Amino acid sequence: MRTTGLLTAAIALVATGAVAQDDHQLVTNGDIEIVTEAPAPDYISGLRTIYSGWRFRDASLQEMQMDDFENPAIIAVDKAIVQWSTVDGTEGKSCASCHEDVEQSMLGVRAVYPKWNEDAGEVRTLAMQINDCRTENMGAEAWKYDGSDMTGAEALISMQSRGMPVNVAIDGPVADTWKQGEEMYYTRYGQLELSCASCHEENYDNYIRADHLSQGQINGFPAFRLKNDGLVQTHNRFKGCIRDTRAETYSPGSAEFVALELYVASRGNGLSVEAPSVRP
Ligand code: HEC
Ligand code: HEC
Repeated sequence: MRTTGLLTAAIALVATGAVAQDDHQLVTNGDIEIVTEAPAPDYISGLRTIYSGWRFRDASLQEMQMDDFENPAIIAVDKAIVQWSTVDGTEGKSCASCHEDVEQSMLGVRAVYPKWNEDAGEVRTLAMQINDCRTENMGAEAWKYDGSDMTGAEALISMQSRGMPVNVAIDGPVADTWKQGEEMYYTRYGQLELSCASCHEENYDNYIRADHLSQGQINGFPAFRLKNDGLVQTHNRFKGCIRDTRAETYSPGSAEFVALELYVASRGNGLSVEAPSVRP
C-alpha cells in the first residue's frame, strides 16, 4: 500500500478498465502468430499471467506493428541488411563472410539472449556479442552500444526469431547474474522510492498520466518509438524509467543493465519475440 500511496501522490495513478485482458490477437504480416499472453514463469511470484507491451497500446499503434509495410522500424532493418554484407575492419570481412544468410544463421538467436558465453566466461547481450564479432572477428571498431548501427543489427537479428518463444536460461552459470538482476528489479530507486515492480508488477494496466502501464516486458525490443523517431534499445528504456524515479541511472552496456536485462528477459519467457515493436 505504501508504494501505491507514493505513486499516487507523485504521479496521479488512474485505474481504468482492464484493457490488457482484451482479446486482440497479434499476427504479423497475416502470417506470424505472436503469443502476447502466457502463464507467468513460476519464479515470478508477483504475476500470474504475463502480457506483451503490445496489449497495452492503442489500436492504431497495434496495427502499425501488424504489418511490416506500416512498421517504421523496417527502414532501419533494411539498412542493417545492407550493413550485414558490408566489409569493415582489418580482416576484410562482413557479417555475411562468416554467418552467410541472416535468416538461417540467426534463426532463434534472439529468443535465448542474454546468454552465457563459455569462452569469455560472461553473460552476453546480443549487443555485446555483435561488438565482440566486430572487434575480435572483423578487426573493426565496436559500435556505440545503443547507437543506430547496433539497434538496426539487433532489430534485423531479432526479426529472425519473431513468433518464437522467449526462452532465456536463468540457472547454471548465469544464476548469480540473474539474481543480481532480480534484486535490482525490486530495489526502490530515487526520490520517488519506486522499484520496477512498483510500476510494472503492482500497477500494470493502470495509467500514469497518459501512459498505460505495461508489465515492462522486453520481447519487443529494440522498439521503434514514435517519440524518438527511431529504434530504442532495452538499456535506453531502462535508463529512462530509472530517470523517471529521479534517481541516478546506469549506462547502456553496464554490468548492472546486463544483469537487469537478463532478469527482465526471463520474466517474458513464454511470450513470443516480437521485435521490432512500435511504441508511442
Ligand atoms: C570471422 C567470422 C565472423 C564474423 C566476420 C562475424 N562473426 Fe559473429 N560469430 C562468429 C563466431 C565464430 C561465433 C560463435 C559461434 C557460436 O559459438 O555460436 C559468432 C557468433 C555470433 C552471434 C551469436 C550467435 C549465437 O547463436 O549465439 C551473433 C548474434 C553474431 N555472431 C553476429 C555477428 C554480426 C552482426 C557480425 C557482423 C557485424 C558478425 N557476427 C561477424 C564469427 C564471426
Ligand atoms: C514510475 C513508474 C515506472 C517505474 C518505476 C519503471 N517504469 Fe518502466 N515504464 C513506465 C512507463 C509509464 C512506461 C511506458 C508504458 C509502458 O509500456 O508501460 C514504461 C515502459 C517500460 C518498458 C517498455 C515496455 C514496452 O513493451 O514497450 C520497459 C522494458 C520498462 N519500462 C522497464 C522498466 C524497468 C526494468 C524498471 C526498473 C529499473 C522500470 N521500467 C521502472 C513506468 C515505470
